[in-house]
Amino acid sequence: MVPDAAARVPRHIAIVMDGNGRWAERRHLPRSLGHREGQKAVRAAIEFCRRRGIAALTLFAFSSENWKRPDEEVGALMQLFLKALDREVDELAANDVRVRFVGELGAFAPELAQRMHAAMQRTAGNASLQLNIAVNYGGRWDIAQAARALATAAARGELDPATIDETVFARHVCLADQPPVDLFIRTGGEMRISNFLLWQTAYAELYFTDTLWPDVDAAVLDAALAEFARRERRYGLTSAQARAIG
Ligand code: IPE
Ligand code: IPE
Ligand code: MG
Repeated sequence: MVPDAAARVPRHIAIVMDGNGRWAERRHLPRSLGHREGQKAVRAAIEFCRRRGIAALTLFAFSSENWKRPDEEVGALMQLFLKALDREVDELAANDVRVRFVGELGAFAPELAQRMHAAMQRTAGNASLQLNIAVNYGGRWDIAQAARALATAAARGELDPATIDETVFARHVCLADQPPVDLFIRTGGEMRISNFLLWQTAYAELYFTDTLWPDVDAAVLDAALAEFARRERRYGLTSAQARAIG
């Protein structure tokens, strides 16, 4: 049976946008210029997903561990986030993109957190692409905050702990209302998850490319989609069983 082409397009793509620093260092430029250049690839990835009819795109922009970088680099990243929010939100809103920031937003400067909340509110009614930007995000934090929410409900007598199973737990992790991640992409050559979406990528297909994030364009993303279409997702079944289900 020829696989249904439509069924082989991921609904949800998650990307670890890695390699900005090395892109700059190779050009003897400050690392912050690599981050700035990486914003073009962010725009390209959003446009790519809109054109290909991808339902959800989750971008890892700043991890909970990235605070440990030199103050100068963290400061430059925060300035870039502020400017990007001011510059891009109009266009995202006009293009029916719903923007959500996922992570512990309380750690950001009030000026920045306020803009993130405003962008989320402004685009809340949009539906053609769910754009999730993970900032001060860690996969372990996500699982811990879900556990805390459930424990709080149980302590209040609102939830019987015996009823907590994977389905109940899944409702409390970030992106619970979106399809599970089908395709996990990491650019920049490293083959690790770096505490990105741990729960949500349980059955994602993993794709690694040496291309540094600022060099990513539609051709790089098309190569990832082509590889995804070739994969057989078995979910623990035999190949014959998986093919029978389609
Ligand atoms: C990813 O690029 C962007 C962030 C972590 C904010 P890096 O800055 O990690 O780039 P490399 O890995 O040092 O090249
Ligand atoms: C992961 O990249 C975080 C982001 C892309 C935002 P890092 O460059 O921080 O990850 P490590 O240090 O290689 O694990
Ligand atoms: Mg890196």
